[in-house]
Amino acid sequence: MILIVDFGAQYNQLIARRVREARVYSEVVPYDITPDEIRKKNPKGIIFTGGPSSVHEEGAPLCDPEIYNMGIPILGICYGAQLMAEQLKGVTDAADIREYGKKALNFENDSVLFNDIPEGTTCWMSHTNYIKQIPEGFCITATTDSCPTGAMECQERKLYAVQFHPEVEHTQHGKEVLNNFIYNVCHCEGLWTMENFAQEQIAAIKEQVGDRRVLCALSGGVDSSVAATLVHQAIGDKLTCIFVDHGLLRKNEGDQVEAIFKNRFNMNFIRVNCEDRFLGKLAGVSDPEQKRKIIGTEFIRVFEEESGKLNDIDFLLQGTIYPDVIESGTKNAAVIKSHHNVGGLPDDVDFELIEPLRNLFKDEVRAVGEEIGLDHDLVWRQPFPGPGLAIRVMGDVTKEKLEILRDADFVFRDEIAKAGLDEEIWQYFAVLPGNRSVGVMGDERTYDYTIGLRAVTSVDGMTSDWARIPYDVLENISTRIVNEVKHVSRIVYDITSKPPSTIEWE
Ligand code: XMP
Repeated sequence: MILIVDFGAQYNQLIARRVREARVYSEVVPYDITPDEIRKKNPKGIIFTGGPSSVHEEGAPLCDPEIYNMGIPILGICYGAQLMAEQLKGVTDAADIREYGKKALNFENDSVLFNDIPEGTTCWMSHTNYIKQIPEGFCITATTDSCPTGAMECQERKLYAVQFHPEVEHTQHGKEVLNNFIYNVCHCEGLWTMENFAQEQIAAIKEQVGDRRVLCALSGGVDSSVAATLVHQAIGDKLTCIFVDHGLLRKNEGDQVEAIFKNRFNMNFIRVNCEDRFLGKLAGVSDPEQKRKIIGTEFIRVFEEESGKLNDIDFLLQGTIYPDVIESGTKNAAVIKSHHNVGGLPDDVDFELIEPLRNLFKDEVRAVGEEIGLDHDLVWRQPFPGPGLAIRVMGDVTKEKLEILRDADFVFRDEIAKAGLDEEIWQYFAVLPGNRSVGVMGDERTYDYTIGLRAVTSVDGMTSDWARIPYDVLENISTRIVNEVKHVSRIVYDITSKPPSTIEWE
């Protein structure tokens, strides 16, 4: 295992993912982890992330310097490199100009970190401070034209540092740098595969649950579907799934979920159809946050009512994944949207929790899903918000508006799939802004709804860009929607990135 010590890097998860891609398990831990806690985890190596601070700032995040003496190899990246230099009595200083962007790396002295990497390779730099003087016992292993210490190391103590960011795509041989550290310095074995993971989890769940019973709130999303399938393979009909169909799903979605889990996998599957109940609560409500709250609360009520009818439940299965764990543990982000996940249940439930995907990134969850026999389409399903179409109908939600939106969204998705763009575009959907505009159909004046099309490329939903869908594909979509969906007479395409927009319109 490799520990990623987080100093507040914006993309702290990216390094952890890169390590996992190299088939080595990694965990992100806060910078104030103690040497004892590290010893318990017994990592083969440690990576210090970058971070927004300067080591000279008051309150800058510092690690316990004892970590350097533990004999565990360390790789410091950017802020992590400067911190290593400073804590080991080197000197760092603010540069006159910020070094930002792609730079050529020149190697000095031989470093195992740069094995098989060509001289002059491009790396990505983004820093204001730099290492002016390296600590005693270290040597410089790379420079750029504007940075005297592009990389440094002390082989004897297995301490390595790079000023650039090997984790980002812009660093041409970044993966090789990380792999050299993981394999040639830390001597990891590369046993982290999703096949091993699935088998180990199935055995562990069997052992943990024994003859007892597990309850799952299945939404049909990737995480809860993979979690339920995994547990079902471990304990069969000792698992019961409750699927709350709030009537805010996409076209045919509820039936598809039922077809897979009830009919094909033969799970104990309870579908609760409560469209009217949810629409009743939402009637006349147009504030997006209030809609989210109503749906979240109502979801929990329905779930509690249904689970109350079952006896002898000991465990609650949740599809929590690793980014949720990291985010709740290390960050204090401002609330832009409450992002209530309808799968999110209250904290005070009386069950023991089972969270088999707690240590996995999304791409790993998908790989496990395919490993255990879930359909490719389901496993690669685009993200879908818990409150569903209620936050894609602007303003108050009615059955009529939902119908229109569902049909338009269906055509949009169908055409994107036909054009072969469905795995390239991260998320794509229709919205109903709710305003009407004048049109003409045949010889008649119309006064009908507008449909907004939203399609974005993104890695994790935190930032995104609008997808460059070819004009002819957009044209087909527009023509089909106005022809096939009643009460729609105008189509617009959203060309804003996030920030400043968000992906959803509400
Ligand atoms: P925004 O709109 O904030 O969305 O840019 C980022 C990602 O989060 C999804 N999203 C939600 N997911 N409950 C959810 O489970 C919500 O209330 C919610 N709001 C937005 C959105 O679809 C996108 O993938």
